Amino acid sequence: KGPKPLAGRKAVVTSGPTHEPIDPVRYIANRSSGRQGHAIASALAKLGAEVTLVSGPVTIQDPPGVTVIHVERAEEMRDAVLAALPADIAVMVAAVADWRVASASDQKIKKHPGESIPTLALTENPDILKTIGHHTMRPKLVVGFAAETQDIDNNARTKLDRKGADFIVANDVSPATGIMGGVRNRVKIVGRDGIEQWPDLTKEDVAAKLAALIAERLRQA
Ligand code: C5P
Repeated sequence: KGPKPLAGRKAVVTSGPTHEPIDPVRYIANRSSGRQGHAIASALAKLGAEVTLVSGPVTIQDPPGVTVIHVERAEEMRDAVLAALPADIAVMVAAVADWRVASASDQKIKKHPGESIPTLALTENPDILKTIGHHTMRPKLVVGFAAETQDIDNNARTKLDRKGADFIVANDVSPATGIMGGVRNRVKIVGRDGIEQWPDLTKEDVAAKLAALIAERLRQA
């Protein structure tokens, strides 16, 4: 048995949601368990990569054999990902909130009966995948995810170009699929040279197949 295929390679993976504070007790978030991202970090480590996992708030355990950096907000996640460069591989799996509250309150916003209801002014969060995909220290292989509920192929191909990724792992997250928060996933791999549908697999098996695909691509490069 030879050396592990990703020995000597560095990878950075994002996983989980981000929490964008409204005030000290409230936040805006996306739905994400972190299962798929954590499984990918684990699978890359098993193939010998030195992995930094930047995780938003999740309830699952830190995977063994991986350096885990815990963050709350998108801006913190972006900073942690940039601090992990240079890397050979970036897999951005986190469900990053697209917007944050423009000026979060230092104090809990109080409810005053009979008074007007607060409105929240939002501002755009940094797009971490896009930042990495167009960075001067761009990793050799940049992989993004696309969780869609409609027009999956077109959305994924557009995302591939816009974000400067090599692959987009696209999945249908319509509530009926049970993928969100579940243990299984059915994905399509959208690359520059076409689309490949993978069967219904556990998130661990999707992770293992993706890690193998990444290793193969780097070997050819
Ligand atoms: O644009 P959309 O959110 O659908 O793109 C999804 C992909 O982009 C995922 O890989 C996600 O991790 C990444 N992303 C990011 N930063 C954002 C938004 C999305 O890294 N602010």
